[in-house]
This record gives sequence, C-alpha cells and structure tokens, in this order.
Amino acid sequence: MSLRLLLVRSIALILLATLAFGALLVYLHAVEKVSADMRVAMAVGRRIVDNAVDDADEVALPRRRLELLVADFNGDRNLRAVLFNPDNSLAFYSYLQPPEHLVSPFLFNLLAGPPVVETVQLPPAFKNLGTLMLESDAHNEVADVWNDAALPLTILAVFCGFVLLVLYFTLGRALKPLEDLTFAFARIGNGDYRARVASFAPRELTRLSSGFNEMAIRLAEMEHRNLRLHEQLETVQEEERIELARNLHDEVSPLLFSVDVDAMTIKELAQAKDLRKIVERAHAIRSAVADMKRNVKALLGQLRPSGLHALSLASAIENLLSYWKSRRPEIAFSAECPDKSWGTRIDSALYSIIRESLNNSVKHTQPSHIEVLIEETHHGVLVVRVLDDGSGFESSAATGGFGLIGMKERAALLGGTLVVENRRDRPGVAVTARLPLPSDADEAYPAVEEIAAQ
Ligand SMILES: Nc1ncnc2c1ncn2[C@@H]1O[C@H](COP(=O)(O)OP(=O)(O)OP(=O)(O)O)[C@@H](O)[C@H]1O
Ligand SMILES: [Mg+2]
Repeated sequence: MSLRLLLVRSIALILLATLAFGALLVYLHAVEKVSADMRVAMAVGRRIVDNAVDDADEVALPRRRLELLVADFNGDRNLRAVLFNPDNSLAFYSYLQPPEHLVSPFLFNLLAGPPVVETVQLPPAFKNLGTLMLESDAHNEVADVWNDAALPLTILAVFCGFVLLVLYFTLGRALKPLEDLTFAFARIGNGDYRARVASFAPRELTRLSSGFNEMAIRLAEMEHRNLRLHEQLETVQEEERIELARNLHDEVSPLLFSVDVDAMTIKELAQAKDLRKIVERAHAIRSAVADMKRNVKALLGQLRPSGLHALSLASAIENLLSYWKSRRPEIAFSAECPDKSWGTRIDSALYSIIRESLNNSVKHTQPSHIEVLIEETHHGVLVVRVLDDGSGFESSAATGGFGLIGMKERAALLGGTLVVENRRDRPGVAVTARLPLPSDADEAYPAVEEIAAQ
C-alpha cells in the first residue's frame, strides 16, 4: 500500500472513531430526553385528569364530563386518553398531533422505549361509568430529537469527508518529491547519472533535492574521470607495446639476422675447411648473442620500471635523483631515507609518490632545491615529504592531470593520507604522505606478486 493511502486510511479511522463516539453520545442523550419527556407528559396528563374530576360531587352529567375530558387530550403531542365502557369495550379515545417529520420504525424502536400505560383512579361518582387510561406515544418526541441531532451529525460527517479529501490531495502533493526521488534513484541505479530532480518546494525537502543533484553530478564526474583514466591507461599500454616492438625490431632483429648469416657462413667455411675464419665467425656470433642479452635485459628493465624488484627503496630513490640530476643539473636534489624496507606494497607506493612529486616539481615550477625526506615516527606512522622551493601551488588552477589523484589513492589504499600544499615557511610546495605501519609490513600488505601467485 502506498504511503499516501496508508496515511489517509489511518486518519480516516481516527475520524470515523470520533464520528462514532459523537453519534453514541447523541444517541444516549436522545434516549434519556425522550424518556424524560414521556415521564413529564404523563405527570401533566395525570394532573389534568385530577383537576377535571375533583368536583365529582357537583357534576350533573359525569359521563359527559368524562367524554369532554378525553376530548381535551385531542391534539396532545405525547399522550392519548382512552375511555372504556364498564363492559371494557372502547368508548372514546383522543387523537395525537401527527409528527412533523416521519421517523422510521427502526429509529423509533432505537430511541423510544415501550409506551407507558396508566389507568387513572377516578372518584366514586365516575366509577360505574367506565375506565380512563392514559397512554404515552413518543413519535413526536422521537421526531423532534432526531431532527435536532441529524443536523450536527450531518455537519460532522461532511466535515470528516472534507478533511479526508483535502488530506488526500495535500498528501499527494507533499509526497510527490519522494516519488520523483525514488524514480531518479532507480535511474542512478541503472547507471544513468543524468538523472536530476526539480527543487522541491517544501523547505525540509529542498536540501534533499539539492543533495541528490550534487550526488548525481559527482557520480557523473567520477564516471567521466574513470573513463578518461581507463583511456589513458590503454594509451599508455599501447605506447609501451609499440615501444617494445620497436626496440625488439631495431635492437634484436638485426642481431638475429647477423647470427643467421654467420651460421650459414660457418657451414660454407666448414666445407672449405677454413678453420681460422670459422673461429672468427663463432666469435662474431658470441658477440651478437651478448648484445642480444644486453638488449633483452634492458627490455626486461623497461617492463619492470620501478627497479624495486632488484634494488632497495633507498637505492631506487638514489637512482631516481641521479636520473633528474643528469637532466636538470641546475636543481639540487637531496634525500634522507633510512636504508630499509617496509614491505613491497609500502615501498612501491612510496617510490611512486616520490617519483610523481619529483615529476610535478620539475614540470610545473623552477625550483633550485628538491628534498625527499622519509622518517618513521614513534607512533608507527611513516611520514614521507617531498619539498621544493618553486613558485608554489595554485589550488584554483584547473587541471586535467591524474598525478595528485593517483598519489592520494595510493596513500588511501594503505589506510593513510596525502596532502599537497604550499609551504608555510617559504615559497614552494610540500607533499606529505602519512602511512600507518602495520606491525609486520609484509604480513599485513602481501606483495603484489604474492597476491598474483595465489
Ligand atoms: N610541485 C608543484 N608545484 C607547483 N604546482 C604543482 C606542483 N605539483 C602539482 N602542481 C599543480 O597541481 C596540478 C595537478 O597535478 P597533477 O600531478 O595531478 O597533474 P599534472 O602533473 O598536470 O598531470 P599528470 O600528472 O597527469 O601528467 C598541476 O597541474 C599543477 O598545476
Ligand atoms: Mg603530475
């Protein structure tokens, strides 16, 4: 059941209960009123009869007096007077005033009790003339009571119906934003990040719609960035493959060809039994094979660019700095790095962070000094800093780069943080990574090779 119908149903039940309670109170009051009015009417009727017959001794025509007495009750709203002959046959009876509104027998039975019938004690002068009875009739009273109660009950019922109607439409409008939101979430779930919702009018929901739209924009941006990263990765891999093919072609193929030629020459020289030249060719083959080994080794080195598989982190950083020193001799490079390993994953992350930070410093500014500092705090945190004294970092500058993102992701993957900010003490940029150290680094972070081998 929809939330709208659920709310309307609950409120309808409350209104119905109120209506029923109101009707019960009205009913109890009506029953009491009808019964009280009948008692009063009967008392008044008795008094009228008493007054009419209290001068019995002076009455010349007592029978006539009784007939007139019965006639006096004609048109009464609640009482009927009936005169029986001494032989109990019906002599006279009065007629009631007809009710202004007709009431159904059901309603009459509900509100009025059984009629009250009283035989009036007549003075001795009237005794042999017949019996006088008074009988109550509540039709007029019930009609009046019902007439009085029907209007307020109708107003109450109309009010309840109106409240329900207004509630139904108001809830429909109020809950519309939630319906829109559900629909938009379904679109996001299906990967359609263009889904947006209109700004919701109720103040409480405005933040919901703006929050949803911001989330959708962020997701769309992330998807776009992922796509670009993926494309970049593919381009890099493609370039690497092309470079590898070129190297194999340029460096190894000619050597293989020369080995092939030398082998064929040896065959001819063997037939001519020219041992001296055979030895010369064999030397040439060995030298070509040595060149090939060197080239293949260089290619393997390219395939494992960090060089961390063979070197310690400190030596790999040293190599990196040498690389830059040879290309940018005007910059002074220095490093303070303990000669130890924190496990393959941490070492490799540190190396990548330092390499990208150096790239950025050299690429984006003209520093005169770049420092690399690695230290282990007493609290089991590894702090890595790369500081330059270049022109500094403009956080507002739009960038399509992935270096900073990549560094931050690497730090986050190890449960750490990475901050890139301008130095406070002087111009330049400070890259600071803080990585928590596990008690046993290699146990907590298994090497990539180990994961691949599993
Ligand atoms: N050491 C630095 N000094 C000054 N600006 C820097 C420094 N490091 C980063 N920046 C600024 O931060 C931006 C983002 O750097 P990031 O490494 O993410 O991208 P990139 O170097 O431009 O491209 P990519 O790394 O993808 O080749 C740079 O464009 C640059 O403006
Ligand atoms: Mg960069």
